[in-house]
Amino acid sequence: MKTYQIATIPGDGIGKEVIPAGRQVLEALAKADGSFAFEFENFGWGGDWYREHGEMMPADGLDALRGKDAILFGFAGDPDIPDHITLWGLRLKICQGFDQYANVRPTRILPGIDAPLKRCGPEDLNWVIVRENSEGEYSGVGGRVHQGHPLEAATDLSMMTRAGVERVMRFAFKLAQSRPRKLLTVVTKSNAQRHAMVMWDEIALQVSKEFPDVTWGKELVDAATARMVNKPATLDTIVATNLHADILSDLAAALAGSLGIAPTGNIDPERRYPSMFEPIHGSAFDIMGKGLANPVGTFWSVVMMLEHLGEQAAAERVMRAIEKVTANPALHTGDLGGRATTAQVTQAVCELIAAPAQRRAA
Ligand code: IPM
Ligand code: MG
Repeated sequence: MKTYQIATIPGDGIGKEVIPAGRQVLEALAKADGSFAFEFENFGWGGDWYREHGEMMPADGLDALRGKDAILFGFAGDPDIPDHITLWGLRLKICQGFDQYANVRPTRILPGIDAPLKRCGPEDLNWVIVRENSEGEYSGVGGRVHQGHPLEAATDLSMMTRAGVERVMRFAFKLAQSRPRKLLTVVTKSNAQRHAMVMWDEIALQVSKEFPDVTWGKELVDAATARMVNKPATLDTIVATNLHADILSDLAAALAGSLGIAPTGNIDPERRYPSMFEPIHGSAFDIMGKGLANPVGTFWSVVMMLEHLGEQAAAERVMRAIEKVTANPALHTGDLGGRATTAQVTQAVCELIAAPAQRRAA
């Protein structure tokens, strides 16, 4: 029997609540399925670790993760520690250290979810955003000099490489090709940014030649926001730079009804390193410790993890359980206008996974 080695890193805020819930779902799944198992190792890195050790994770932390099949991650951020320290000291350290260059963010309106767009049914909004996850605006190139003096200067350089753009374009075209509509929108800003974004466009065109069956087009990032609101059904797979996709994916999640639902995978498509799966909602310090967090973003991330591991049937089983739960307003958490607790939603998903009716017809 295959045993998957999973690292869990709850991190901060409600990460400490939703990641154990994700583990519970995986345990229920392994029990119900019987054809694979999970071995978990938990890492208590994050803000508390920083207060104790002066760093977000140990210097050799990546070595502890290297042999894992996947990582389930909560959130890195702390009200008392500057955001750039928590981010670069943990999440980006893992994303960049393991060259997880494709960040994949699916968005759909799940059953029972009240999404804000009028005239937009669930069938009109079914997107996957591919976020370049290793360079661009988040490359970390830049500096700050003459601090505190009138001469003070600071730069954040958006660095793009041909290799970096080519590989994420190829990934996005391949993903678009695997989806029924075979439709890719390349988000750009080459009207204003005349170097890197122009290269981005050129490489998109080059890579598109390898995928003659994919229909593709370019859209400026500002126009893309309007199109997401006004003509959601004209989009399917979307590829964008690190920062553009960061912003567009929050918009996408909100348009689908809640940030509490949205999942993401930080993927190393070449599988040299473990990939990392996480909800995108953040730490939500206002509700932490109260058992009110929506665990669905984590459960959907678990679905993405199972797909990455090649457990397609198991992934579908969890997704069906999630959809049954979102369809029931009594199981909606506060972000969805309901009163359910993290524990109630988790228990409901686990029960559905265990129920024989959930089993796939052979
Ligand atoms: C995300 C988040 C992060 C990002 C934050 C927490 C730094 O917004 O994953 O979308 O910008 O990458
Ligand atoms: Mg974001």
